[in-house]
Amino acid sequence: TSVARAQSSGFDFEPIGIATDFDIHVPAGYQWKPLVKWGQPLFSEAEGAFSPETGVSVAMSDKVFGENTDGMELFEVDGAQVIAVNSEYVNPKINLPEASEGMPANVDEVTLLKNMQGVTVMEIADTGNGYEVVVDSPFNRRITHETQMTMDGPAAGSALVQTNADPEGMSPKGTMNNCGSGKTLWGTYLTCEENFNGYFGTTGEMPEGEGYSRYGIGGEGRYAYEKYDARYDLSQEPNEPHRHGWITEIDPSDASSTPVKHTALGRFKHENAEMVQAADGRVVVYMGDDERGEFIYKYVSNGTWAEGQPTDGLLSDGTLYVAKFNPDQTGEWLALTPESTSMSLEEILVFSRMAGSKVGATTMDRPEWIACNPLKAEAYCALTNNKNRGLKTNAGGDETPVGGPNPREANNYGQIVRWTPENGDHGTIDFTWDLYVMAGNPEVHADAYAGSDNVTTGNMFNSPDGMAFDTKGRLWIQTDGDDSNEGDFAGMGNNQMLVGDTETGEIARFLTAPNGAEVTGLCWSADRKVAFVGIQHPGGSWPDGEGKPRSSVISVWREDGETVG
Ligand code: FEO
Ligand code: CA
Ligand code: CA
Ligand code: CA
Repeated sequence: TSVARAQSSGFDFEPIGIATDFDIHVPAGYQWKPLVKWGQPLFSEAEGAFSPETGVSVAMSDKVFGENTDGMELFEVDGAQVIAVNSEYVNPKINLPEASEGMPANVDEVTLLKNMQGVTVMEIADTGNGYEVVVDSPFNRRITHETQMTMDGPAAGSALVQTNADPEGMSPKGTMNNCGSGKTLWGTYLTCEENFNGYFGTTGEMPEGEGYSRYGIGGEGRYAYEKYDARYDLSQEPNEPHRHGWITEIDPSDASSTPVKHTALGRFKHENAEMVQAADGRVVVYMGDDERGEFIYKYVSNGTWAEGQPTDGLLSDGTLYVAKFNPDQTGEWLALTPESTSMSLEEILVFSRMAGSKVGATTMDRPEWIACNPLKAEAYCALTNNKNRGLKTNAGGDETPVGGPNPREANNYGQIVRWTPENGDHGTIDFTWDLYVMAGNPEVHADAYAGSDNVTTGNMFNSPDGMAFDTKGRLWIQTDGDDSNEGDFAGMGNNQMLVGDTETGEIARFLTAPNGAEVTGLCWSADRKVAFVGIQHPGGSWPDGEGKPRSSVISVWREDGETVG
């Protein structure tokens, strides 16, 4: 396996050291401040809804910024800057009264938790004192576990997605565990439903089927929703979980628009959705399934698109492929069709993992974000870690032997794989691959666990997760790993954001997060002078310095006013 070599420093900042404190650190010449914090009002009626001691009141919980910020994208709408941003999950101990002991004790507390998750759409503006949320902007909107949606594509309306509450199977409610994000070529937001399985439980008999075990559905719901709402009770609505785990499209320019779940893009624990175009104009979406030993997928539309043309059918009519990586650094996309899988098209889309197993897809070390280089036809996927690689199989999935782009047993550090499509065309079937970086610890290990040559004692990190390219073709890498700074992780410090030169292989540390937090979500102001960075599940009392810790999006900018991306 070839690995890019580190060369001379090509970055326009001085890389920073590790941190172990409860603060943010950025390079000399850069500044940061919060853009929006958990519980901050989007509407003036919610002023004062947040208390540092008790959090958010249930009455105002759908009018404030949600908890645990994740993927986000910025849109320019009629001269306004609008950010759509995910709130992946909630920490019940932070949101609920102490007496609840981390589980909701009544329907109001369930409502509070439902409302603190989902998606926020908000206008932001540079006030002269940095970027701030435009309170009461007509673009501001909260989308929660209760928001009315619709579905399209081949599995919409099928028997697999029909419920007692929606016998037509066309009107699902809510989007949940919104992890990574994507931006369509036509300026809409893609929110990616990841660990949806954890929201379902049962008060009676558990329905049977491989589709439940393969997706980890069963047992108790993590927030006891099923005790207060039949929709989440598998004994009453066995098909409800089939209405989650999709790529969902939101129009950030219209706060009254109905979000659409696109079944053609498959159902799994979606990390993000990276949209590019094939040479012939077809739409290509790369997607990872974040589970140990699950797969990487690609959707290719049948129709083509160009600026100004209609978008009908582009995300509902196409082919879903799954990746096979060969040991010789070649690979191919395997089409998931009724012929290749002996499954119906509806089954392929609802149970995409099982379809991927049928065609012999390559089990991966937890595929997180995929990012495509804007300067050349290349895709990068963060394989965050896989403690079970080579040791045991997960979630009723396939065997996970060591090899190919997953070369280390008990992989606690992670790696980033990249592939180049044949003919430089994302629409083709064949590709070649290599590893851009294998994370590791050269202070503790001398073998493969020391990492690739572009990992040094000066830039060590573990568990790459969020990734985005800037306009200069630099790869920004965010981590969600072990921040104990001990043992195998000694010298790595808190989670961080680094920048990679994908030509030389060099990687430099740009930002460190407060202890306890992961760094997730990255987008830029329209003029690229400000980077917006997500800080999820911080520890201590960050960022206020007192009271509860608040997941927040921060602004980062250069003191000299130059661009940061
Ligand atoms: Fe929500 Fe795979 O990160
Ligand atoms: Ca992630
Ligand atoms: Ca992660
Ligand atoms: Ca997370």
